[in-house]
Amino acid sequence: MEQPLQPKAVIVIFGATGDLAKRKLFPSIYRLYQHGKISKNFAVIGLARREWTDEVLRENVVESIEEAVSPDENLDEFVSHFYYHPFDVTEDSSYQGLKHLIKNLEGEYDTDGNRIFYLAMAPNFFGTIANKLKAYELEKSDGWSRLVIEKPFGHNLESAKGLNNQIRSAFKEDQIYRIDHYLGKQMVQNIEVIRFANGIFEHLWNNRFISNIQITSSEVLGVEERARYYDHSGATRDMVQNHILQMVALLLMEPPIKLTTDEIRSEKIKVLRALRPLDKNEISKSFVRGQYDAGEINGEAVPSYREEDEELTESNTETFVAGKLLIDNYRWAGVPIYIRTGKRMTEKSTKIVIEFKDIPMNLYYKKDNDRNPNLLSINIQPNEGITLGLNARKSSEGSLAEPIQLAYNLNESSGINTPEAYERLLYDCMIGDATNFTHWDEVALSWKFVDTVLDAWSKEKADFPNYKSGSMGPKEADELLAKDGFHWWEV
Ligand code: BG6
Repeated sequence: MEQPLQPKAVIVIFGATGDLAKRKLFPSIYRLYQHGKISKNFAVIGLARREWTDEVLRENVVESIEEAVSPDENLDEFVSHFYYHPFDVTEDSSYQGLKHLIKNLEGEYDTDGNRIFYLAMAPNFFGTIANKLKAYELEKSDGWSRLVIEKPFGHNLESAKGLNNQIRSAFKEDQIYRIDHYLGKQMVQNIEVIRFANGIFEHLWNNRFISNIQITSSEVLGVEERARYYDHSGATRDMVQNHILQMVALLLMEPPIKLTTDEIRSEKIKVLRALRPLDKNEISKSFVRGQYDAGEINGEAVPSYREEDEELTESNTETFVAGKLLIDNYRWAGVPIYIRTGKRMTEKSTKIVIEFKDIPMNLYYKKDNDRNPNLLSINIQPNEGITLGLNARKSSEGSLAEPIQLAYNLNESSGINTPEAYERLLYDCMIGDATNFTHWDEVALSWKFVDTVLDAWSKEKADFPNYKSGSMGPKEADELLAKDGFHWWEV
């Protein structure tokens, strides 16, 4: 097997006492270490306001790793690379101290001056941090330095632009890695491969053969402890602006001329540019919002969104969104792309279904309305794989066709693949591969599209709650497809 590159770096995590660091980053760095994808020449500096010590950070890192993965005996050696530095993002002395610590660790671990600044914290400080890093020349070193940022990247196009300008005054676009963890998922990365490495699909991948595409990302969990963030965001900002539109771009883009970051990004950007703008006065024709009511999931009663937290009692925030998108280009004109995502739905699952047009006359159907169109399903999670629905004669009796499925299951037991996604993305960042990170143009175009929906919704109070926990969303989401003669496929 080819030996992976083993990058060297000092990784600086802003927000090291937070949930993201604990649940995703520490386990991911450990897995890179376990898998030999990071050299022994690395150090991690955890920054946050709390007065922790190196020891306290290390104990937390051990705890988070033991919760997330099965560690080897080398855990003690691994955590000895972690250092804590109490930090106030607005205080100059904090940056001076950080500079000193980085320099020391670069000497001790011989990291070639490579630096990652990972902002795993509230976005209101992103601009301040970027500017101070520049002021103290922390982004300047003998190696490379990169900035990794988490969503939310702004609240709408305007605020995203402001944030981007602040960050860009300190870092160049090619130093900025905007994380969308869906782009690290195995089957999301596979969309391109399935499309462009197989003769049989690409010829059919257009409006002559595909009748519609459906993307569903459903969750069972509710708002959990994130009421403050989530209520300000809602499902559209939380899932559609980023994860779902990224999947749309990958599904509909033209084949890139090369597998380079720039070529792939430029094809994705073209798809987002071709999204048909929505008419703000007719949003309800193509978008549906929902908020969960109480209900039952897996036999357990769960409260409504408004009952989850005191702050939510009168909330008008959507926890579900479904929409119909149209792409105005030669390949896709006329093919509706239906999307839906929400909290407290029937199951945790992300899936893409491509429905092919029927043949002109199918003599093998039982009744006229008994259609079994061919469906290609790309299963992102929890099962990872693809299935292709065909018609075939199953028994020796009768001459009618019945649906059958060809299935490829990559990994049935992988569960939710978020930790692996972070591991892949962190590694890509360290080797300088920005393909699976979002370019500013993608972020801007996605905001532009969803802003129209959100602006229209903000002007009218919704009739919430309107779907039961444990269901697949409000009935209007089904009507959205029914009026075009389709329905959601639960394959
Ligand atoms: C995050 C959202 O980006 O994605 C969460 O903020 C959501 O609200 C999560 O639960 C879903 O990710 P995954 O990997 O569990 O599908």
